[in-house]
Amino acid sequence: MSEIRRLADYEVKAIGLGCMSMSHAYGIPNRIEAERTLHRALDLGYDFLDTAALYGFGKNEQLLGEVLEKRRQEYVLASKCGLIRGPDGKRSLNAKPEVIIKTCEKSLRNLRTDCIDLYYLHRVDTNVPLEDQIGTLARLVEEGKIKHIGLSEVAVPTIEKAHSIHPIAAVQSEYSLWTRNPENGVLDYCKNNGIAFVAFSPLGRGFLAGATLDTRSFASGDLRLTMPRFSEENLPKNLPLLEPLKKHAAVHNCSLAQIALAWLLGKGQHIIPIPGTQQAGHAEENVGALEIKLSAQEMLELDNGFNPGKVQGERYSAAVLATMET
Ligand SMILES: NC(=O)c1ccc[n+]([C@@H]2O[C@H](COP(=O)([O-])OP(=O)(O)OC[C@H]3O[C@@H](n4cnc5c(N)ncnc54)[C@H](OP(=O)(O)O)[C@@H]3O)[C@@H](O)[C@H]2O)c1
Repeated sequence: MSEIRRLADYEVKAIGLGCMSMSHAYGIPNRIEAERTLHRALDLGYDFLDTAALYGFGKNEQLLGEVLEKRRQEYVLASKCGLIRGPDGKRSLNAKPEVIIKTCEKSLRNLRTDCIDLYYLHRVDTNVPLEDQIGTLARLVEEGKIKHIGLSEVAVPTIEKAHSIHPIAAVQSEYSLWTRNPENGVLDYCKNNGIAFVAFSPLGRGFLAGATLDTRSFASGDLRLTMPRFSEENLPKNLPLLEPLKKHAAVHNCSLAQIALAWLLGKGQHIIPIPGTQQAGHAEENVGALEIKLSAQEMLELDNGFNPGKVQGERYSAAVLATMET
């Protein structure tokens, strides 16, 4: 298995770094550890970093800009537009052309860069024609503000249509042992059309690393408290799913997180998992998954162990799922 993945005209390490939780989502962000993690990740060879205008409503992009401005040439930078802070202060979906343009200008300022290498539509806005959303991103490419366009949480017909308007470099959707939706045709479409598939939440938001054994460990405001799989009722029922991971981790003398990532890497040469962490030690552990090769038999055992029918609870609340195509 190659450690390198193609992403448009770049070659990147097969595991990237998700930066979201350094400012938003799980637990309380720790600025000092975030700075250490970002520098350590680049030192370890991570060269594909993922953020979004949404994360911390700009704080995550600011963090990357402030900490890594001088190391900008060392990594491919991905960010996203289309999910913004609404008038009520909460997240809202808006990918009108003028909003995409304004968000991109702000992202460039926050990230302290003159060009974002990969800019995703965080969600397709069903109130705006797709032609206008992709057309606006294509104009940003022409103006040199972004280099490539990506989509997130989309189904094949949308990727196909968008790709006919402007080449799509990457699709980013949730994909992990316990979230298999992209196996419904999206993975194959990407593979057959030279589109990188970026797997977000590849560690099941910590569950697959064995890091979420009890809902009582979540700080107030932790997003997982809103996710049915992590409810007080469902989490205990999901814990036995970890058994096959534990078995293979023992065989390979590695961590559960490394097995979960090795499984994703084994699913295709176009797949790039972006595990998120606030801890330098976890960034080091996660990239170590590149050393683990699972046999066809082991892949199959893990596939079956996590048969989607065995997972209790949806991955998101109904309101959030309504903004996604997959
Ligand atoms: N496009 C989208 O809509 C979308 C949605 C969600 C996420 N994303 C992107 O995907 C990235 C990754 O997803 P994610 O952060 O949601 O989920 P994830 O990568 O599946 O899991 C992150 C969680 O796992 C823990 N963790 C990481 N490595 C670990 C290890 N080796 N051992 C034990 N625990 C470990 C982290 O805690 P510690 O901090 O303690 O390590 C964190 O709580 C995000 O950063 C973001 O860039 C995109």
